[in-house]
Amino acid sequence: MTAYAQCKHRLEAAPQSWLLTGVAGFIGSNLLETLLNLKQRVVGLDNFATGHQRNLDEVQSLVKPEHWANFRFIEGDIRNLEDCNRACQGVDYILHQAALGSVPRSVEDPITTNSANISGFLNMLVAARDANVERFVYAASSSTYGDHPGLPKVENIIGKPLSPYAVSKYVNELYADVFGQTYGLKCIGLRYFNVFGPRQDPDGAYAAVIPKWASSMIKGETIFINGDGETSRDFCFIANTVQANLLAATTENPAAINQIYNVALGDRTTLNALFNALRDTLGKAGINYSKEPVYRDFRAGDVRHSQADITKAKKLLGYAPLHRVQSSIEQAMPWYIANSECPSWEPLRL
Ligand SMILES: NC(=O)c1ccc[n+]([C@@H]2O[C@H](COP(=O)([O-])OP(=O)(O)OC[C@H]3O[C@@H](n4cnc5c(N)ncnc54)[C@H](O)[C@@H]3O)[C@@H](O)[C@H]2O)c1
Repeated sequence: MTAYAQCKHRLEAAPQSWLLTGVAGFIGSNLLETLLNLKQRVVGLDNFATGHQRNLDEVQSLVKPEHWANFRFIEGDIRNLEDCNRACQGVDYILHQAALGSVPRSVEDPITTNSANISGFLNMLVAARDANVERFVYAASSSTYGDHPGLPKVENIIGKPLSPYAVSKYVNELYADVFGQTYGLKCIGLRYFNVFGPRQDPDGAYAAVIPKWASSMIKGETIFINGDGETSRDFCFIANTVQANLLAATTENPAAINQIYNVALGDRTTLNALFNALRDTLGKAGINYSKEPVYRDFRAGDVRHSQADITKAKKLLGYAPLHRVQSSIEQAMPWYIANSECPSWEPLRL
């Protein structure tokens, strides 16, 4: 049995209490779906800054009513310590996802990014410490590798941050480490690399590339590629990310605590290859996209290549990402199609 299968088996046999911050967002709502299916008790905290009620509604439609009854939602803000304290009460495990994502957003508005991602993070650490939680797992970011050119990225070798967002995510790691040393809070940071999957917002100026391109292709719109298209990323399907969170929260390996881990597939896909994969997958679904991409300038703050070394997570957490990029795009595509065609966001059973 894999470490993840064992972890899920144990949780189902003895349900625990979880706090999911950012629960109305992409990653948060996917964590919620998995935890509720495992019969866990979940408190969710979100202020709907970038998350949506429709994500919670979709999870409700996908899980059994008796499992949905184990979920309690608090509309609140991590920048408010009282909201954090209230959310942490009686919780065993925290999966802290709430933050303002996106490098360009942080370049345009560093102050708001700082208040959610650093002040809000510190509030959550204090609340978690005071509530004596068993584990504080948080969303770190591959942006912390900054300008270091080495590939693949190994956790202990980072460069200088290239954006306010990257600074905020690096500060999270520093604070979590200090809270581990000073107060004994058991923290684990997960450096996500370009996560994708159902419920990732395709709209808005700060949308991630996969949902944005899928949605644009479905609508027949032009795709713009920043740079020559040979920029590459380690795209990681949401199911792999969920696996890493559950393993990090429940690991009993003392060497695994108060550590940072890359969470990715450990592979690299160029934007040109991604464009072709999305177009081919849509073609198989009967939607033919015939436009060629338009190449334009590289985007400020973007790193050229990104690929993770996932040895550490494999070794210490038993992380084993099962979902490859092509098959995951095929798995996610029905959601992109349903949600691009239906402005009312009718949820689709996958
Ligand atoms: N998606 C990725 O590829 C990726 C990569 C690296 C790191 N991350 C990190 O993972 C986490 C989740 O990202 P996501 O892709 O699900 O983004 P998302 O925007 O879909 O989710 C973030 C959620 O946090 C909520 N939130 C923001 N500010 C808040 C506040 N002040 N109080 C309460 N809730 C607040 C939002 O409303 C939203 O529901 C973030 O911390 C992000 O920085 C994501």
